[in-house]
Amino acid sequence: MDKIRIIGGTPLYGQIKISGAKNAALPLISASLLTDAPLVLKNLPDLADVRTFKSLLNHLGVDIVFKHDVDGDHAGALRAHSIQSTEAPYDQVRKMRASVLVLGPLVARAGRAKVSLPGGCAIGSRPIDMHLKGLEHMGADISLEDGYVVVEARNGLRGADYTFPGITVTGTENLLMAATLAKGTTRLMNAAREPEISDLAHCLVAMGAKIDGIGTSTLTIEGRDRLGGTTHSVLPDRIETGTYTMAVALTGGEVELTETSLDLIPSVVPALESMGVHFEKTNRGFKVKRQSDRLKAIDIETEPYPGFPTDLQAQMTVLATMAEGASVITETIFENRFMHVPELMRMGADIRVRGNTAFVRGIPRLKGAPVMATDLRASVSLVIAGLAAEDETIINRVYHLDRGYEHIENKLSACGAHIERIHESAA
Ligand code: EPZ
Repeated sequence: MDKIRIIGGTPLYGQIKISGAKNAALPLISASLLTDAPLVLKNLPDLADVRTFKSLLNHLGVDIVFKHDVDGDHAGALRAHSIQSTEAPYDQVRKMRASVLVLGPLVARAGRAKVSLPGGCAIGSRPIDMHLKGLEHMGADISLEDGYVVVEARNGLRGADYTFPGITVTGTENLLMAATLAKGTTRLMNAAREPEISDLAHCLVAMGAKIDGIGTSTLTIEGRDRLGGTTHSVLPDRIETGTYTMAVALTGGEVELTETSLDLIPSVVPALESMGVHFEKTNRGFKVKRQSDRLKAIDIETEPYPGFPTDLQAQMTVLATMAEGASVITETIFENRFMHVPELMRMGADIRVRGNTAFVRGIPRLKGAPVMATDLRASVSLVIAGLAAEDETIINRVYHLDRGYEHIENKLSACGAHIERIHESAA
């Protein structure tokens, strides 16, 4: 199991190119199931989760070729000539919960899907009841069989009105994709508005879908008999953008983030500005640096987009551990997303968790220590902590990191960080 070794205390200077968004790439890859025509995705991130998803889609009948083209861009050519299987097996889904994203497209294209229930994961129970309720509204029959959910619509799906009882990103994506091939019109209300959903919608429109209300909480979809192919470039990753922005905010220095935009993190910018971070737009993205020699404390509460993203909560908690004053961090999306807290406390952080709220008293500096990664975003928060802490930090189980951050040690060491990957045998 690889480890990451960091010697903290070096401010970051230079440039970081932001990759395509993991959480846009996954639904876009799943959209290839909706058509027998070729779908080309450019700016595809080269991540473990994308490779995991590729093997599931291969199993379902999608031919996928990933390649690095001349300017190093990682692209994918996908084509589902026909559906070979309508089953997403447990050993695939348990590795990556986002595998549930095959549900909507499979039912729409093949009239059936048998998907293992995702089961819990480190950050919570992660049910898919809202996905299933929506498909039922569209005429599908739902049944449970030994840990699998079987969704059938032998005569195809029919358009329907459906109001989500709560905001669900992949639930919105599943039903959006299903509705593109349903008979008639579907209106999805109280839909999630994350940029990755709009990116998927724009790609579906380019494939021939009829979608109104993109970017709003009401999506109206006119079903089509079939969709065609297209070439689509994956949206920049706003969570990677926020993560590296926060790394610079904590270590000091000045870095230009390219192939991204401040517009992707609308609620993060004012929060960081209030802590003493300065932004300057450039024609390739933006520059970020810390104004003073120490960040100021802050109170944040995670919310669905355009609110403060839950996927940046752990990273923000790290900033609070070294800020001047006391911060209050409230997590409203997942029930157990403070696994980074015990690890940060090993580094000297002063944090108390009560329910879904972390009370953080800032200290001048964290102390390096051996720590354990638990989930994707908690693990990257430990990298940020290590970059600013005194002495050495060793992060174990970095396979969590590789799921969502392309070449993280290369991007950071290119900006002066003392960070290296230690390859350990599987033993
Ligand atoms: C997506 O997960 C993202 N994953 C997550 O990113 C992100 O944290 C999350 O949205 C919230 O923004 C992908 O896009 C692949 P939800 P998703 O459905 O869709 C509850 C990362 O680190 N819920 O919006 O699974 C659910 O339990 C990952 O990249 C139901 O109760 O999240 C949660 O508490 C982590 N029933 C809340 O809603 C349902 O049917 C939001 O979940 C669906 C969800």
